[in-house]
Amino acid sequence: MYHEIDLDKIDRNAEPPAEEPDRQYYFMAKCREWVREFEQKNGRRPCFFTQTFGCQMNAKDSEKLSGILGKIGYVEAQTEDADFVLYNTCTVRENANKRVYGRLGQLGVQKRKHPEMIIALCGCMMQEQQVVERIRTSYRFVDLIFGTHNIFQLAELIWRRLEQARAVTEVWNGTEQIVENLPAQRKYPFKSGVNIMFGCNNFCSYCIVPYVRGRERSRSPEEIIREIEALVKDGVVEVMLLGQNVNSYGKTLEQPITFAQLLRQIEQVEGLERIRFMTSHPKDLSDQLINVMAASSKICPHLHLPLQSGSSRILERMNRRYTKESYLDLAFKIKRAVPGISLTTDIIVGFPGETEEDFLETMDVVEQVGFDSAFTFIYSKRTGTPAAAMEDQVPEAVVKDRFDRLLKRVQEIGARVSGCQLHTVQKVLVEEVNDHDASLVTGRLGNNTLVHFLGSNDLIGKIVDVYLEEFKGFYYMGAMR
Ligand code: SAH
Ligand code: SF4
Ligand code: F3S
Repeated sequence: MYHEIDLDKIDRNAEPPAEEPDRQYYFMAKCREWVREFEQKNGRRPCFFTQTFGCQMNAKDSEKLSGILGKIGYVEAQTEDADFVLYNTCTVRENANKRVYGRLGQLGVQKRKHPEMIIALCGCMMQEQQVVERIRTSYRFVDLIFGTHNIFQLAELIWRRLEQARAVTEVWNGTEQIVENLPAQRKYPFKSGVNIMFGCNNFCSYCIVPYVRGRERSRSPEEIIREIEALVKDGVVEVMLLGQNVNSYGKTLEQPITFAQLLRQIEQVEGLERIRFMTSHPKDLSDQLINVMAASSKICPHLHLPLQSGSSRILERMNRRYTKESYLDLAFKIKRAVPGISLTTDIIVGFPGETEEDFLETMDVVEQVGFDSAFTFIYSKRTGTPAAAMEDQVPEAVVKDRFDRLLKRVQEIGARVSGCQLHTVQKVLVEEVNDHDASLVTGRLGNNTLVHFLGSNDLIGKIVDVYLEEFKGFYYMGAMR
């Protein structure tokens, strides 16, 4: 395996290799030399802190970045009081950007006290030119800026920063490249995200993701299976397959395969117990996939199926390419095929031109489907997207009122729907000791609902039978059988 490579065996005085990932291992070796010098001088290793601001794909990227830093010899710190601070940013809604600027302001104060600290920014926000310009002018203490397409270059960029002793900015507009076999540090020993594709080609009219993550690219099934096999060998029992639109997986491969076919292959991996995936776009969800889910004992009975709006008129303006009716048909078909499946969703309120009637259509879908839970978002205008140029933006007070009504219904319905397994015994993957009460452990059912029960930390990572005794709105209290 590549990431078991001994950096000491790499000739650091040779020219850097042109091929990836060899080139990055070369720069990791160079940086490691620097880390050793740091250690000799300071009597300790340098430490790093990373913060993820975005979605699961963003979090997965952070694990890769931490893996590279760990390989170089940095140790992880729990706070920003560190030698290397990295923010992996998100720009899907304006709030995400605001949080980054707020935290950066505080970091600037800290850097004045510790001028030798390195501050790095990466992720989706950095793919926006106006953001990079603002940071270059108003946050001049930032040392390193890179985007979503070249996170694999972290070691090379750190080395460049150390050598040049001035700020480095390297943001790519896009890439065809998928660099495999880099180190990664997992947050949990027993479960892991696995990228199956990158980018998005859907261009929903409100969404910035296609602009900051680039065109859709699928990883080869061989690489995916190899990674999952290695993870299982290392103790992983649950994988979450990640992509902006997993249902269009494989279309761009030299030998195209479907997502359903990929799932069948992954199911064969011995020792793997649970498979989850996200996100599914309703327009591409095939009957073949529903059949695979229905027949599988490993694919979890949970589907995140973003609705965005229940109004066919708004869906068209959103460029979602399905209608209220086709969404409902799909949701009912899945519920029939996989009894007990939990459906969750994303909904945007206040998209330009949304009328009260449109909003009531959304409420109607919420009532009819009965989602276990829903992430509800207030529409956020993203510069450069088609929706940002639409004229009839909805007044804030109207949006707020609709948002509150929706949230209330979503919670009421969720509390009713997700309690339906009460008084049954279910398989639970134990994830952690309970935050509030150390005599309890917390785990997840196949359908993703949380359950707390008496237990100790030796259960973590195990799948056990739990009797669901009590339902508390959105989680269960249970007892191990
Ligand atoms: N690829 C996924 C979504 C990724 S973004 C999909 O197609 O479902 C996660 C969620 O953020 C989206 O489902 C949407 O509900 C929300 N979102 C995206 N852009 C937004 C915007 N401009 N304003 C508010 N919410 C937005
Ligand atoms: Fe954004 Fe639509 Fe792509 Fe999801 S499918 S990432 S909402 S453009
Ligand atoms: Fe945010 Fe980028 Fe994910 S914009 S939601 S971190 S793909």
